[in-house]
Amino acid sequence: MIRRAIYPGSFDPLTNGHLDIIERSARLFDEVVVAILLNPSKQSMFPVGDRQRIITDVVASDRVRVDTFHGLLVHYAIEQEATAIIRGIRAVSDYEYELQMALMNRRLEPRVETIFLMSSEAYSFVSSRLVKEVASLGGSVGGMVPAIVEAQLVERFRRHTDQEDETNR
Ligand code: PNS
Repeated sequence: MIRRAIYPGSFDPLTNGHLDIIERSARLFDEVVVAILLNPSKQSMFPVGDRQRIITDVVASDRVRVDTFHGLLVHYAIEQEATAIIRGIRAVSDYEYELQMALMNRRLEPRVETIFLMSSEAYSFVSSRLVKEVASLGGSVGGMVPAIVEAQLVERFRRHTDQEDETNR
């Protein structure tokens, strides 16, 4: 029997903190499905196709698969015949939200267990939200995200700044 886990999230964009959790979970399970939430009501920076491609390109393990899902996470987990949902915890501030989700998911589907992994302390302050904010203000996010993500962020905000300059001229 294959032990399969789902690592769900928005991954907008993928950070080195996410990668750390992916690598840790791939050591614990036969297969890890990195599942990107398709959420039309949430404004994302990177199109889902780009996010999927980036993760597929960056993650080298043949134990890791990248997919998208919509609807309830536990329904997706059952459909994938997964026994666990992986979530990374960085700091105490993550705990409350994560606990709520884990308990709700357990209530909805007791056959799927949520497993929390502590991210490496090197990435404990890194989040997709902050990375986008720093990059948008011209700060360096080197070492916090894979090089391909850094390049895409720089490109995106360079174009944005060029457009603004054009408008103000
Ligand atoms: O990276 P994120 O945005 O923190 O991930 C949140 C995610 C995708 C795990 C969560 O929003 C989710 O599972 N959404 C799917 C809808 C669902 O199952 N909702 C009930 C969860 S308690």
